[in-house]
Amino acid sequence: MTRARITIDREFTIGEVPRRLFGSFVEHMGRCVYTGIYEPGHATATEEGFRQDVLDLVRELGATVVRYPGGNFVSGYNWEDGVGPVADRPRRLDGAWHTLETNAFGLHEFVGWSRRAGVEVMEAVNLGTRGVDAARQLVEYANHPGGTYLSDLRRSHGAHEPFDIKLWCLGNELDGPWQIGHKTADEYGRLAQEAAKAMRLVDPTIELVACGSSNSGMPTFGAWEQTVLGHTYEEVDYISLHAYYQEHEGDHASFLASAVDMDYFIESVVSTADAVRAKGKHSKHINLSFDEWNVWYASGLDTEDQPHNISARGRWREHPRIIEDAYNVTDAVVVGTLLNSLLRHGDRVSIANQAQLVNVIAPIRSEENGPAWRQSIFWPFARMAALARGQILRTAVTSDRYSTAKFGDADLVDVSTTWDEENGTVAFFLANRGLDEAAYVEAVLRGFSGAKVIRAEVLAAADGQDRFTANTLDSGEQVGLRPLDGVRLVDAGVELTLPPLSWAVVQLEVTTA
Ligand code: AHR
Repeated sequence: MTRARITIDREFTIGEVPRRLFGSFVEHMGRCVYTGIYEPGHATATEEGFRQDVLDLVRELGATVVRYPGGNFVSGYNWEDGVGPVADRPRRLDGAWHTLETNAFGLHEFVGWSRRAGVEVMEAVNLGTRGVDAARQLVEYANHPGGTYLSDLRRSHGAHEPFDIKLWCLGNELDGPWQIGHKTADEYGRLAQEAAKAMRLVDPTIELVACGSSNSGMPTFGAWEQTVLGHTYEEVDYISLHAYYQEHEGDHASFLASAVDMDYFIESVVSTADAVRAKGKHSKHINLSFDEWNVWYASGLDTEDQPHNISARGRWREHPRIIEDAYNVTDAVVVGTLLNSLLRHGDRVSIANQAQLVNVIAPIRSEENGPAWRQSIFWPFARMAALARGQILRTAVTSDRYSTAKFGDADLVDVSTTWDEENGTVAFFLANRGLDEAAYVEAVLRGFSGAKVIRAEVLAAADGQDRFTANTLDSGEQVGLRPLDGVRLVDAGVELTLPPLSWAVVQLEVTTA
């Protein structure tokens, strides 16, 4: 049996849980918008054409902020195409995903949907094919109260009050050669600086995210962040990070340790941002927006139905199926550990968006004219979004370890902890990365007394299932949470046993000593 010991102390806090850590992402890609969140003909459609069954699941998921409209899509997008009477909106070729974009869904629809979903809007501007002028005009259209051409145009389109969008992304992955309008770090840094300046002149209250690297494996990683922040440090608030993980050729050991890589990635970007701060003698800190992360089986996906290699495709179709990954038990455990990594760095990671929300590498799936359902990865996200509140506690973990080909030795038990002082609760989010052995975990609570277990749930393969079991249209929701039995209060804290390959949440009611 694997053994792990956890110690928390009420005095050792990392910072307040940033609620924007539980963000998501809606891109005009595949079936995320069309037949995902928006399907006017669906049996559950609202008067605006939003799928109510999907909205209900989004609310249950607990996403707090949603990035829109891309992604690679935004780098070729004209925001003006998505406003005004739907009948007058142009049909366009979307080069990013080789898709026919009808523009039936645009900014007003997204803001309306966000209100119904109870999420904050995070809007990206196009710095691929467009620039300073389109960016500042979009801010004026969205946020200026009225009395100017663009704000009155918004009002004439039915939105009398400004949208008041606070959070803006300055483009998307412009370091990537695949990006429409790909740029060097100097080209992007100067453009982002001037766009930021012009956008803030329209609305000084907005918060701005500069593009960091598309992933930590990019040849320019590190140098890109340094150059971009060298240009933009005073004008922006955040630098972005993107990372996707998958199991390569049976290397489950490395895949399960993906959060080790995420920790390293975050710490590298924090160091780079702080080095630019020192060199430029700046006083403020640049924080991190991890605005795309997830498990994504990106390699080997190039079929007629789910094309990945877009250059190989000949046909232009509306909302084709693209990267509709079916997530299994292993993926849910990895997603739980990635959320742990984000939470452990909550003092510097202020925003994080799981990519994406519906159908496209998503926790929620839906079928046209059909049902919507939760994937396995829905559960760690939903529980952490609901229960990770208050203070993030520094969590000392001494765990048995295992070796991985990619990331060296890793803890078999991975944990993050939060303390909600207002409600008098402590929540542990735990994963057992071991495929075969259960893990005995002893948690010592310092500065807390009088604990009571109020929730103990686990996600693991049930009888008759294995680590590849997933929730599909045919199978239904067979992977989910069940009670974690045997959580025992002891003098110093709590003892529990995690089944092999599992993710669990244990919530205690506590009083402070
Ligand atoms: O989320 C899918 C795609 O991954 C996004 O469009 C892009 O930004 C990233 O490469």
